[in-house]
Amino acid sequence: MTKAYRGMSMEGTIARWYDASNGKAPSRYDEQVAKVRQHAPKGARVLEVAPGPGYLSIALAGTGDYTVTGLDISETFIAIARGKALDAGVPVDFRLGNASAMPFNDDTFDFLICCAAFKNFADPAGALREMRRVLRPGATGLIIDLRRDVSRQAVRDDVARMGIGVVSRAFTRFALRSFLPRRAYTKAEFEALVSKAGFGAHEIRQTPLTLEVELRK
Ligand SMILES: C[S@@+](CC[C@H](N)C(=O)[O-])C[C@H]1O[C@@H](n2cnc3c(N)ncnc32)[C@H](O)[C@@H]1O
Repeated sequence: MTKAYRGMSMEGTIARWYDASNGKAPSRYDEQVAKVRQHAPKGARVLEVAPGPGYLSIALAGTGDYTVTGLDISETFIAIARGKALDAGVPVDFRLGNASAMPFNDDTFDFLICCAAFKNFADPAGALREMRRVLRPGATGLIIDLRRDVSRQAVRDDVARMGIGVVSRAFTRFALRSFLPRRAYTKAEFEALVSKAGFGAHEIRQTPLTLEVELRK
């Protein structure tokens, strides 16, 4: 089978380390919930593509306002996310699968979000094609990911607010400055990808750390 992701597999110890580090930055997920609220009305069917340990999906389901599905390629992350949803007592349909071959019917979701993951997809054009396919006509998708041209200062500021220990901080800073940006896209590169994906409209915004790509089917 062709590898569905770039770089190392996020299974086992690496997935558990990621979970432990990122669980200490709950404000990040609060900000993402607020972004979803801007686009998705109460009752919306929301898909999170590549939820990892599932924090955002669980927070969204916990609002009681959304029916939430999460799709991730990592068996470890799906197991962690299902366990957390059970502990939290919220219903999230966490599914194992590939962003570029989604196990969903056409026109299924009212909103879709994908955070800190798009640069890892081995087939980004396929993932965009699938995102478009599973959104209902008129619905919005939001991709938020590291920008390739991120500055050292933006990385320093972001890692500082994660509240993680010295070793995790050093590794995360190293990753965000070295190998992760190499996989990431600039605004112009993302424009080129999105313009071929068949969306009705799109807008790409930049923050010091990320690109926010808003897609309308
Ligand atoms: C850095 S983690 C981000 C997790 C989460 N969205 C967050 O913000 O913390 C990247 C995620 O992308 C997932 N992933 C990578 N390639 C994938 C693919 N082709 N299809 C679905 N998920 C994929 C990984 O398993 C991992 O959960």
